[in-house]
Amino acid sequence: MIEFDAKTKIFHLHNEEFSYYFCINKLGYLIHLYSGKYIQSVDIERLTERYVERYAYLENNQEVCDESYYFALQASNFECASHLTGDKRGAPIIIKNVDGSTLTDFRYHSHSVINGKVEIENLPHTRIGTKKNVQTLEVVLKDIRSNVFLSLYYSIFDDMNVLIRNCKVFNGENEDINLIKAASLELDLFGEDYTLISTHGTWSMDRLIEETPINHNKIVVSDNHGARGFYHNPAIMIKEKEATYKSGDVFGLSLIYSGNFSFEVGQDDLNQTRIIAGINPETFNFKLSKGETFITPECVLAFSDKGINGVTQTLHDFAREYIIPKKFVNVERPILINSWEAYYFDFDTLKIKKLIDEAKELGIEMVVLDDGWFGKRNDDKTSLGDWELNLEKINLEEVIDYAHKQKMKFGLWVEPEMISPDSSLYKSHPEYALYNRNVKPTLYRHQLVLDFTSPKVVNEIFDMISSVFTKYDIDYCKWDFNRYLSEIGSTFLNADQEGEIYHRFMLGTYKLLDKFVKKFPNVLLETCASGGGRFDLGMLYYSPQIWASDETDPNARIEIQFATNLFYPLSTIGSHVSARPFSTYQDKAIIAAFGTFGYELDPLKLSEEDKKQIVEINKLVKTWHHIVTIGDYYTLKDPTKSNYASWMCVTKNKKEALVFHYNFRREPTRARYIKLVGLKPDQYYFNSLTNKIYRGDFYMNGGLNISCPIDEGKAMMFVLKAVSPLEKTIYEKMNSGKEEKRDKIV
Ligand code: GLA
Repeated sequence: MIEFDAKTKIFHLHNEEFSYYFCINKLGYLIHLYSGKYIQSVDIERLTERYVERYAYLENNQEVCDESYYFALQASNFECASHLTGDKRGAPIIIKNVDGSTLTDFRYHSHSVINGKVEIENLPHTRIGTKKNVQTLEVVLKDIRSNVFLSLYYSIFDDMNVLIRNCKVFNGENEDINLIKAASLELDLFGEDYTLISTHGTWSMDRLIEETPINHNKIVVSDNHGARGFYHNPAIMIKEKEATYKSGDVFGLSLIYSGNFSFEVGQDDLNQTRIIAGINPETFNFKLSKGETFITPECVLAFSDKGINGVTQTLHDFAREYIIPKKFVNVERPILINSWEAYYFDFDTLKIKKLIDEAKELGIEMVVLDDGWFGKRNDDKTSLGDWELNLEKINLEEVIDYAHKQKMKFGLWVEPEMISPDSSLYKSHPEYALYNRNVKPTLYRHQLVLDFTSPKVVNEIFDMISSVFTKYDIDYCKWDFNRYLSEIGSTFLNADQEGEIYHRFMLGTYKLLDKFVKKFPNVLLETCASGGGRFDLGMLYYSPQIWASDETDPNARIEIQFATNLFYPLSTIGSHVSARPFSTYQDKAIIAAFGTFGYELDPLKLSEEDKKQIVEINKLVKTWHHIVTIGDYYTLKDPTKSNYASWMCVTKNKKEALVFHYNFRREPTRARYIKLVGLKPDQYYFNSLTNKIYRGDFYMNGGLNISCPIDEGKAMMFVLKAVSPLEKTIYEKMNSGKEEKRDKIV
């Protein structure tokens, strides 16, 4: 997978479908040559040739220039551009040197290839385990003026079009240096015709797709809230302008990181595109003392020449194979009901026991007790940090026992990174709050953030939470985060370490999560931040599912889920049916079924008719949901571009598929066909829309005909199931003359 030609000094990192080429040039620079669909070889001269002024420099007061050799700092493509040189397109690594300057000049020093991957200790990362299909190249660069070394890591897989990139900076100087920018990846692309796909959002509009043409203005997709990913998300796509969902070259970049990040994207004067991805430099400045190293988070670079769906599937497969905890990843999660929208803070033992009874009747498998069970928390003004049961309000042991006796699971909500000023913890340890003591810190939702830059604080919170999860037999944990970081300052760090706080806070959070999942490996973890504000690969490393949004109204939900679908597997997308009066339970359930399924409502308030519907829905979800959990996802109709949202999931063996269609506005009869994808052309499939059997090629080219009037907010779901020619004959004989079934869910 990793080849090095000692003569030409070309590295070729590849599998059967993907090639990534770069070389060491005469001057020791790493020159990027190509990334994309597999090609057997490259012609360095033709690839690097630019009719620009060649690189000339002064040596012993003489001009030195090699005219036979195409290289120019301002025009060549790099693996890692140096800072303050003639390359003005931005550098991924910026260092304040011992002498105070920020000029760097990184040149090749050495390289090595290992089977497998270098493990990163304190950050979530690609889990290779015992897999043998990965190789890693480490190229060490050295700054020619100092003893600062920069290692670039590239891990490539033999069966997935993914390259994992990150870096390590080592301070070999005798004095401190400061890292003022430490990105994980630089990707220089030839060509000008790219479009950026990113997401933006806010509370209850957690992720919405935004497409931006990439031109000469630098675009920065970034976040500086500290640990929340709905304003912008740390995953983007770069697609050829003409690429569609089905065809064309597309790159996907996804950071395995939940802290402040940035993607810089823009064209240079020669119309070449540079992308730099990693920790956001705006809020970063990290001191490295003599002999210390800094490791950047990993950035996943996925490629497909089969359009956006190709990259989406690669990112999904990658997350399922290498990020999400194995124990949960391909396993059906219990259908849950959460107490939040049913009772908010107003519950007691009896109410929760009734909720368990009712949920059981409806075919729900787990009850989750949300916010309000600890301290004296009867509203959101108090008690975060006091992780002790409020015995006056709830007898947890009794409730959990009650659930388990009925073969129901039980879950609990926590918000470990937070502290309420009105809490015992704050009274005894005001120094645990993370803010600059020279200002009046802003409260959001009446709370402050804990100083997780300090291992002491992390350990103390762990002990408290851990004792609850040890004492009570809890099956699931919802791990929330309801404000972002502001006016940061730490009583545990020096004032000049301000630029380390955001990253150290993230490391502390990861440490806590790590301790939790190691101590409670059987607890299903769902992370959350005011809804879906922390969707990223960093969180998925610990929690197999993430609450997608507090918004459950169908029109808005679909756009949020759609944007999330593009980057993250559907099995990770917490999606629930609420009682909000915008739609039928059936419509809402069909949408929620394309995520991890559950409810946010009070079953005691349901009509008998609604209850019947919900029982039926739950049976269907149990029967068909595995297709969503393990299948390949395809977007069929982009909801941002039409009146429809449509997508489908197909199992890897192509024997079962689940198709989704939604109409935003009401429409009369239109000649409306859903052309399916991803089926086997010569395989017969039964479909639950018409109760008929056709070949895959018919569904994919003719399509499923839904040319009927469709109401506003109407959701449909159809199943396709492979049948043999013999089964087809028998089925058709048995059903000849019978009416077609129409307009039903499955
Ligand atoms: C956040 C979550 C909600 C709920 C509340 C509890 O807003 O998104 O689902 O858990 O916190 O305070």
